[in-house]
Amino acid sequence: MSLKTNNGLVKWIDYRLPVFTFIQHSLHEYPTPKNLSYWWNFGSLAGICLVIQIVTGLVLAMHYTPHTDLAFASVEHIMRDVNYGWLLRYIHANGASFFFIVVYIHIFRGLYYGSYKSPREILWFLGVIIMLLMMATAFMGYVLPWGQMSFWGATVITNLFSAIPWVGESIVTWLWGGFSVDNPTLQRFFSLHYLLPFVIAGVVGLHLVALHQHGSNNPLGINVKGPQDQIPFHPYYTIKDMVGFGAFFFIFFIFVFFLPNYMGHPDNYIEANPLVTPAHIVPEWYFLPFYAILRAVPDKLGGVILMFGAIFVLFLLPWLDTSRVRSAKFRPIFKQVYWIFAIDCLILGYVGAQPPEGIWIVIGRLATAYYFLHFLILLPLIGWFERPRPLPSSIAEAVDAKSGGKSSAAVAAE
Ligand code: HEM
Repeated sequence: MSLKTNNGLVKWIDYRLPVFTFIQHSLHEYPTPKNLSYWWNFGSLAGICLVIQIVTGLVLAMHYTPHTDLAFASVEHIMRDVNYGWLLRYIHANGASFFFIVVYIHIFRGLYYGSYKSPREILWFLGVIIMLLMMATAFMGYVLPWGQMSFWGATVITNLFSAIPWVGESIVTWLWGGFSVDNPTLQRFFSLHYLLPFVIAGVVGLHLVALHQHGSNNPLGINVKGPQDQIPFHPYYTIKDMVGFGAFFFIFFIFVFFLPNYMGHPDNYIEANPLVTPAHIVPEWYFLPFYAILRAVPDKLGGVILMFGAIFVLFLLPWLDTSRVRSAKFRPIFKQVYWIFAIDCLILGYVGAQPPEGIWIVIGRLATAYYFLHFLILLPLIGWFERPRPLPSSIAEAVDAKSGGKSSAAVAAE
């Protein structure tokens, strides 16, 4: 396909560096299933979140000092003295939370519509890698303000590696750069926290290459049969993405301006003190389900293995789900099990925030067991025994049936 422009300069550049052809193909003409719902907005929203984090992070780094004697004070300096520093920091801190909200919804959309199935397995893998990188980035970022939760959170989580037999203790000393979380730890965390978002951006690039290879899945989960099932990305989905951005920023700014500390922990406004342990050490909300799994086992190593296993199992998902039908719309049993699983994750999150005692231990163990039961037993079995509902023969047919049996062209003409 040739470039559609009469602009001489654009043509001159494009002949040598085909950026305009690339944009035309991948953002303009790019044929996309015509039935995508608002659940398909969350990928572009995740992209916006990444940009927000990088831009605000870059400016924050100009005023922040990665030293145990100065870090806490430099963050207060940003909040009080730097022009709009408070805004930058609140956008960055709440941006991290919103990034996780958006990506978790993006993942659960994929789980519901079977977007991880062939031929999108690598697209899914890259997503899981992005999630791991996001977790590492957020964990190290939280240490930087050098508050009580920063210090004690870092101490608890890095200490987990000591559970590894024989080499565990040496690994922890190596991670810390000393014999406790201290200045060398803070400095390497700052360096890595600066680096990782750019690594994420690179993996997101690959994620999009994999996406464009076979195009988006869709709410029906059936393959595109021809041009009648598709519409060009621009203007249809560019506009729809803009609507999503508007809704996102509306909610986001309610938090930034009116509830900026709602998702934070008050203890992080107390400077780190290695001699005073907080009553309850809790991670940020987006780690809570994994924290609950970690604490579900009385044995430290067992807990660590289960926690990493909870993420690793996602890599196996395309093979654990044995059904050939993608979308839960046509899978009556899977649909119910999906919602039970979603509730199980919420329960895990709630348990992760509770002190590990009494009934919470029991609930945490049951919810952890169900998490693995879902992936390792239920998904393979349901795929074999479930009788899916009949699939529509094409996207166009299903869309037409929805609009009263008229063809989409006839509806557009009316
Ligand atoms: C920085 C984080 C991420 C960004 C910027 C991103 C970006 C995108 C974009 C723009 C799309 C196309 C629009 C859409 O389908 O919503 C997409 C699709 C997809 N993403 Fe992501 N993504 C991210 C994280 C993840 C994660 C963590 C996973 C899974 C673990 C994942 C799995 C998928 C899948 C399976 C699709 C195809 C969905 C379909 O066509 O039904 N992504 N992603």
